[in-house]
Parts: sequence; C-alpha cells; structure tokens
Amino acid sequence: MTQSVIEILLKSKVGLDVNSINSGIITRAIAQRMADCGIPQIERYLQRLQESNQEWEALVEGVIVPETWFFRERESFNFLKRYVMSEWLSTQSQSVLRVLSIPCSTGEEPYSIAIALLEAGLAAANIHIDAVDISKNNLLAAQRGIYHNYSFRGNPPYFQECYFQPTEAGYQLCQQVRGMVDFIHGNLADPRCLVGVPPYDVVFCRNLLIYFDAATKKRTMGLLERLLTKDGLLFLGHAETGLFLNTRFIPVRHPRVFAYRKSRVQGSDRPATTKKPTLTQQRKLTTNKNPFLQPTQSKKQDVITKNTEKPSENSQANLLETSKTLANQGRLHEAAQLCNDYISQNPVSAEAYVLLGEVEQGMGNNEQAAQSFHKAIYLQPSCEEALTHLALLRENQGDLGSATLLWQRIRRLQKRR
Ligand SMILES: C[S@@+](CC[C@H](N)C(=O)[O-])C[C@H]1O[C@@H](n2cnc3c(N)ncnc32)[C@H](O)[C@@H]1O
Repeated sequence: MTQSVIEILLKSKVGLDVNSINSGIITRAIAQRMADCGIPQIERYLQRLQESNQEWEALVEGVIVPETWFFRERESFNFLKRYVMSEWLSTQSQSVLRVLSIPCSTGEEPYSIAIALLEAGLAAANIHIDAVDISKNNLLAAQRGIYHNYSFRGNPPYFQECYFQPTEAGYQLCQQVRGMVDFIHGNLADPRCLVGVPPYDVVFCRNLLIYFDAATKKRTMGLLERLLTKDGLLFLGHAETGLFLNTRFIPVRHPRVFAYRKSRVQGSDRPATTKKPTLTQQRKLTTNKNPFLQPTQSKKQDVITKNTEKPSENSQANLLETSKTLANQGRLHEAAQLCNDYISQNPVSAEAYVLLGEVEQGMGNNEQAAQSFHKAIYLQPSCEEALTHLALLRENQGDLGSATLLWQRIRRLQKRR
C-alpha cells in the first residue's frame, strides 16, 4: 500500500511509468534506501521522502536505468555526420550547430555526438552541445569522462586508441572532446525543464520516453517540438519511433536510423500532400529519394496524379511507394492495407514485407511485425534491414538470445561484403 503511494509520487515527480520497468527494481530501491537511512518501516520512510529533497534524489538514483554506450545505434551517428556534411556545412558553415542530448546518462551519447561532429569536419568552436539528465551521479561520471569496456561495446578497437588514454581508473576521454559538452541537471517531467532555452538544430532524446507515463510522454513530445529548430533533426530510440508517427514530425526513412524532422506545415496534423488515395485509384508518385529532404522539406512536393489505366508493373511499384508515403504521414492502417494489396500481387517481395513490418510495429503489433520481418528474411536471407529490425525488436522485448544470433548474422553479412 505505502509502496503504491511511492510509485504514484515517482510518476508525478519524474514521469516514471512503474509498469515500464521490472517491478522488483522499485521494491529493491526502496529497501536499499530504507537500509541506508536506518529506517525499518516503509511508512516512516515515506515520511522522510516527503520531507527531504536529498532523500528523494537518492531514491531516484536507485530506480533510473542508466544503460548507455558509445555510438549506440551507430547508424544514427553516421546519418548525423552525413547531414552535417551534405546539408549543414554547405549552408551554415560559419554558424554554431546547437545540439541537445537528453537524457545523457553517463555521457557516452553526447561525447559520441561530439566525436561524430568533429569527424564530419565541424570545428569545435562551431559546436555547442548541452547534455541533460536527472541523475547527479550520472552527470558526475559524465564529467569525469572515464570509461570501461562495457561502454565501448560494438566499437572498433581504434576508437579507444584515438580518443582515450588508458589510466588505472579506466579509459580517460581526451580533453578536447570532454570540453565540448556542457552537462546540466534537469528533470524532463518538471514543466520548468529547459524553459526559455533557445531551440537546437539536433536533439537526441533516446531511451527515456519508453519509461514515461502517457501524460509525461505527451508533454515531453510537445517540449521536443519547441526545442527543435524548423529544419532540425530529432533522434529517438528504436522503440520510441512509433510514438511520433501521428504527429507533425516526419520520419527520416533510412535503414537503422530512428530520426524525425519537423513538418513545415503549421496548424495542421498532416503534411501538405495527404490527399486521401483510394485502393481503386492507381496513383503515380514522384518521391524524393534524398533522406535529408523529406516530403515537406522538398522543393518539389510529391505529385499524386490519377491514372485510370489497368494496373501495370509500374503502377504496382507505385502502390508500394504510396504505402511508404502514407506510413511517413502516420496513416498506418491505410499504409498496411496498400502494402497487403501489393503483397497479394507480389508475394515474393522482401521489400514489401519489411515495410509491412515497420508499419505493424508503428501500430504496436510487435508480433505481427516480427512475422513480416521473418517473411522478408525467408524471401531474402541477406536482407539486412529486416534482420536489423528483428534484432532490435527482440532486444527490446528482452529476448537477448535471439537478438544476439541476429546481430551475429548481420555482422557475418557485413564482413562478406
Ligand atoms: C537508458 S538511459 C538513456 C541514455 C542515452 N540517451 C542512450 O540512449 O544511451 C536513461 C536515462 O534517463 C535518465 N532519466 C530518467 N528519468 C528522467 C527524467 N525525468 N528527466 C531527465 N532524465 C531522466 C536516467 O537518469 C538515465 O540516465
């Protein structure tokens, strides 16, 4: 009973949805704090919590999930580099690129951003990175910049050699990179968080929304919209991309990149090109192939024209393109229907099954999504996109055994190339 009251407090003060984490974590954290404080009764501990901000912070340290590592979901960092080289440097080379990493945990994420930006050719003086987290312990660790092997998983050995110095305490990150990040204590569930801060060109908000209750998720999504410049890029965790599908954000369609851009259409829930297609109409669609220029950012808007001729091979392909466009616009049910239509005519298309899987996942139908990815892999055993989606999905479901096997398979494929 008293634990439920503490759980309600955790929800209202830090936005934590207790169902999003293993229930034992909260029980253990409370028991640990009671032992540390020498308070045997939970009712008295609750009283202490309500009286002491310091105790509150100590309990929060016990329930947060600090898991992070350098270049987590690496393709997002590659995409950031390409964005800087192909878009930012060509138009804004003299400006300062403002980046936010929230939550930054122990610093691996903002430091990976700093390294990626340096490698993309930006000068340190033209980079401003703010990194925010609720955990003061994490922020202190981030400022120290000393890391162990666990933080380097998946990174090539030269990475450590390039940017770190081995010390007795661990690998010390070089001063140049450490000096590029400002660490800030902040709580995203607090309405005062980042109030009055100017917008950022790039925001990383990864692997936190999944732990938030519905109201805090919604408020945070509103805050992220305000915090992003109109041309900005928002990176999310893999499991969080579905949250933004029916919003004014437009997904970046690039394999293994979980990012959104802001729609330029204000006051509308949808981008400009959402004339509703019907299944009986065949449509010709000219899509923009540049992943940095999503539909509403493109100078050439998508063109949808009616074509009443018999379905040809070409119009079949357009069906799939239209399905992709609808998925990008958040019209997931229509996208799934078109995709299934396409599959009934083209039952061996791995590409269509990958798209169907993405759409199913966006609708929260994880097992159906997994089935679609499996079908894509069956049809095309080297389909890296389907393998990656499935690996990330299994990882998020806690099925680490299956995920590991899939990652190994992906690595073998990459080596063979
Ligand atoms: C799983 S880590 C994610 C770190 C990094 N973004 C990544 O994806 O690797 C989650 C972080 O969220 C922080 N956190 C939890 N609740 C928060 C809140 N209400 N406001 C700000 N940070 C919070 C935790 O302290 C923890 O460091």
